[in-house]
This record gives sequence, structure tokens and C-alpha cells, in this order.
Amino acid sequence: MTMFSVLVLLWMSQVVSCYDDTSFVAAVYEHAVVWTSIPGQPPTRQEAIDFMKQNLDVYREQTREAKRQGADIIVFPEDGIHGFQSRENQYFYLETIPDPEKIVWNPCDDPDRFNDTPVQQNLSCMAKENNIYVVANFGDKQFCDSSEDSSCPNDGRYQFNTDVVFDNEGTIVARYHKEHLFMTELQFNRPPSVEIVTFQTPFGKFGVFTCFDVLFRDPAVALVEDCGVDTIVFPTAWMDVLPLFVSVEFHQAWAMGMGVNFLSSNTHVLDRRMTGSTISTPSGAVSYYHDMNSTEGRLLVAEIPIKPIKNGVRSAELPITQHDTEFVSDLFGDPFTFVDLTKESDYVIICQNDLCCSLNYTKSGISSEIYAFGAFDDLHTNEGQYYLQICALVKCANSSRDTCGQPTNDAQTTFSHLRLAGNFKFPHVFPEVLTRGIGMDLAVGEWEYKNGAIISTSGISKPLLSAALFGRVYERDDGTFKHTSGAMEVSPHLPLLLILFSVHLIGSVVTV
Ligand SMILES: *[C@@H]1O[C@H](CO)[C@@H](O)[C@H](O)[C@H]1NC(C)=O
Ligand SMILES: *[C@@H]1O[C@H](CO)[C@@H](O)[C@H](O)[C@H]1NC(C)=O
Ligand SMILES: *[C@@H]1O[C@H](CO)[C@@H](O)[C@H](O)[C@H]1NC(C)=O
Ligand SMILES: *[C@@H]1O[C@H](CO)[C@@H](O)[C@H](O)[C@H]1NC(C)=O
Repeated sequence: MTMFSVLVLLWMSQVVSCYDDTSFVAAVYEHAVVWTSIPGQPPTRQEAIDFMKQNLDVYREQTREAKRQGADIIVFPEDGIHGFQSRENQYFYLETIPDPEKIVWNPCDDPDRFNDTPVQQNLSCMAKENNIYVVANFGDKQFCDSSEDSSCPNDGRYQFNTDVVFDNEGTIVARYHKEHLFMTELQFNRPPSVEIVTFQTPFGKFGVFTCFDVLFRDPAVALVEDCGVDTIVFPTAWMDVLPLFVSVEFHQAWAMGMGVNFLSSNTHVLDRRMTGSTISTPSGAVSYYHDMNSTEGRLLVAEIPIKPIKNGVRSAELPITQHDTEFVSDLFGDPFTFVDLTKESDYVIICQNDLCCSLNYTKSGISSEIYAFGAFDDLHTNEGQYYLQICALVKCANSSRDTCGQPTNDAQTTFSHLRLAGNFKFPHVFPEVLTRGIGMDLAVGEWEYKNGAIISTSGISKPLLSAALFGRVYERDDGTFKHTSGAMEVSPHLPLLLILFSVHLIGSVVTV
């Protein structure tokens, strides 16, 4: 074979074959959304379309570029086409999106089938022209009649925060209405019942959900455990909160804890602390982006396995241990029981309620920096209510103990050995590691999640901000909750969702 034909073959294989039997190429685009919103001053429909076009122009360019790099699917972020609107203004950005379970529709091929659908037409043609799956989030309006439907909103329409998936020919193959709206998201309605939405592709079975949904069982966990999806597509508008709710850290942790691929696409809005997108597998992020300086969006493209390998979670047996020096400090509203790490190298166990956590470590750094290791086993109540069990190693914000758990991105201490485990009795635990690199850094490849523990045998080279096993106890969400240790009892309370959507807590916002 001549050199020339080898080159041609290579070129063809790049363009023609985008996936083999074992892997495919995923793309996510972090988008700096262009929008305007003046509450009480609704745009005309044409003005709304013109704004959305500016975002769709970027989507078109990035879809073409993703395809040029061999991508089979591209994911765009939550609110990336219309930005953040009041309920009234949002209306002018909405289209009625037909249910693909009932109506097979290719908007590019059949643009006149429904009235006023420029966004769907545009996205559909983008998918078809580039022969690529496109996942986008925008708003769906469905009119209702309160005489027939008692949950019909007063203004006679549902406005849904919606993910729409177009296959590589432009046909709508999935539509998902976000279940767990964030508290500030008053422009949208919850769907009448939770939607569990999957779609089949030549490169595996996919599930879809949005942003705040990641903290609740349905549909997120159901997609993985009941439907057996391989990959999650996750449009998000995620606001960072250090130390445990940083976008890239949490999204990677979910992929590792659940044993699925996770494609997260964030909006890029720096004054809302929204940045951070990932292409993650159960072994960690293959590609990620987090940048608080740049005002630009960013395309990530990576080849990942079609069938991810699932990790088992194993719980450690640990003796209940108390320290003379233990103290309580607040981490995002949760009172953790902490002990500070005074020695260079040590093995410590710390407990709260039913949870005990162990840490074996060796660190080196300056003595003015303090690190604390803590446990939390209770109801989280800040910006949403849900049960957690967390073992966390954190860099304290300054040398005062009551700053342990507070946000900081300043650290100089490195850990040359780390083993963090807990006696978790529930199966959903997400491993988090965050270090200070140029920006937020996940120390990919320097640690592993194995047998339920975070293990770094040869050390983590960049200064550590946090390492945690984030356990989410969905089993306690029904409101009947007793710690077996009897240390604390919480009486049955209103259904969680009622609390979630009726209490408006003031303070910084995590996720939208
Ligand atoms: C999508 O929008 C772009 C401009 O924003 C336009 O050039 C293109 O023709 C539109 N495509 C469809 C199918 O509406
Ligand atoms: C802690 O780690 C060190 C170094 O790997 C090891 O020698 C020691 O046995 C460990 N201790 C415990 C209690 O696991
Ligand atoms: C630590 O930070 C807190 C505020 O976050 C401040 O009130 C306190 O004085 C600081 N302490 C030290 C020792 O720097
Ligand atoms: C952001 O800018 C600061 C200050 O110029 C710089 O120190 C830091 O490295 C930059 N971060 C990234 C992720 O580029």
C-alpha cells in the first residue's frame, strides 16, 4: 500500500467511522449565553426569536466543529438558548414541543407541520446537516384548561424546562421536562408526574435529566438502576459552591459513584458563578473545563466507552470513636463533626450519628494551614432538603477552626498518601476530589475510587482543597427517619417536595 492510500484511509476512517463497537465520540459545549431579561417588559415574539438566533448561531458553528472532530453526539447547556427569564417574559421564548412517544416529527424535513417552531427547525437541521445527535435545552409550552386539569397554572399554560434530543437525521427522539426545579426557577412548572426518558442510539442507551435533578432519586437514579442506561446527558446551569458543590467535581463524582458515563454541559455566566463542564466515565473525567476568567464558551470532545464498567460500593467496618478535640463547624449549612489533622501523618476516625469515617494520610505543607476531617449524617436544609451522609476532608478557609467547611480556593498543602473510607449503609456514594491547579483541578489519574474508598497511593501533586465521600440517602426522603444510634430523631415532616417549593431560603444559590 502506498503512503498516499494509507493517508486517504486514515482520513476516511476519521470522517466515516465515528464509533466502533466499543467506543464513541462525545461532545459537550459550555456556552456563554446571550440574553436580555427586563422583568415586566416582555419582548415581542420576533425580538425573542432574534435573541435566540444569536445563541443558535453559536450552536451551529460548534456542532459543525464537533462533527469535524468526529463527534457522534453534542450536548448544549440548560437555558443556553433563552437565558434566564421571568415567567411572563419566558412565554415569548417558548414553543410547543410535541411528545415524540406519540408523534414522530422531523422539523427539518417537515417544517410546516406545526406553527411557530423556528428553534426546533433550526436544531433539527443542525443535527441533520451534520449527521450528529443534538441535545438542547429550551422551553416547552403546553396549554391546559383548569376546568379539566386541577393542576393547570392560573395563566392557562404549563411552561416546562425541557431537554430535547434530535437524532442524526433531525427527528425528535426524546423530550424531558425537568422534575426538580431549583427554587428561583419560577418561570417554569413541574410536570404532572416525573418523566423517565431514555433514547437508544447505535452507541448505547442514553438517559436525560437536568441540573438540580442530580440530587434526587427520580428520574436520575431510576435511569441508571431501573432502565440500565450507559450514558447520561446533562444540560445544566450550575452555580458553584465550594468545597463540595463545584460543578466539575460533583459531576465527575456522580459518574464514578453511579458507574455511568456523564456528559455535563454548563452555561458560562461568570457573575452567577456558572462554569464547569465534563465528559466523565466511571473512572473519572476524560475531559473537563472550568474557568472563572474567560468569558468564552468551550467545546470538549472525547472518545469514551459505549459500555461503562460499573464499580461496586463497599462499606468499611469502623469502630465508633470520639476525640477530646472534636468540634462542630458549618459546611454549606450542615453542622459537621470535625477533628483537625495536627500530625503530618495519621490514621483518624470521626463519627456523627450512624456514620463513621476513616482517613489515613500523609501531608506536607505550611503549619498555618489547617485541614479538618469530618462527618455529617442528617437532613441537609440549605437550598433544598435532602438526606446526606458525608465524610469530608477539607482545607479550612483560614487558621481558625470555625472556617473549616467554608469556601476557599487557597491551599498549599499536598497529600503524598490518602485513604478515605466510611461505614456507609446505603448504596449511593459519590467520590469527590478537588485540588487547586490553575483553576479547579480534579487530579485525574492520581487517585481511584475502589471498594468504596478514595485511595491515592502515590499522592496528589497539587494542593488539596477537599476530598469527600458524598452519600445521598434517598431511602430517608419519605420523611420517616430514625438514626439507629438514637443520637437524634427527626419527627415525620411534610413531604419533602412541598417544603422544597414553598420555603424560599435566602442566601447564595447552588444550582438552577
Ligand atoms: C437557523 O438560523 C440561522 C440564523 O440564525 C439561519 O441562517 C438558518 O437558516 C436557520 N435554519 C432554519 C432551518 O431555520
Ligand atoms: C495507613 O497507611 C500506611 C501507608 O500506606 C500503612 O502503612 C498503614 O498500615 C495504614 N494504616 C491503617 C490503619 O490503615
Ligand atoms: C478567619 O476568617 C474569618 C472570616 O471568614 C475572620 O472573621 C477571622 O478573623 C479570620 N481569622 C483569622 C485567624 O485570620
Ligand atoms: C485567572 O486569573 C488569575 C489572575 O490573573 C490567574 O492567577 C489565574 O491563573 C487565572 N485562572 C485561569 C484558570 O486561567
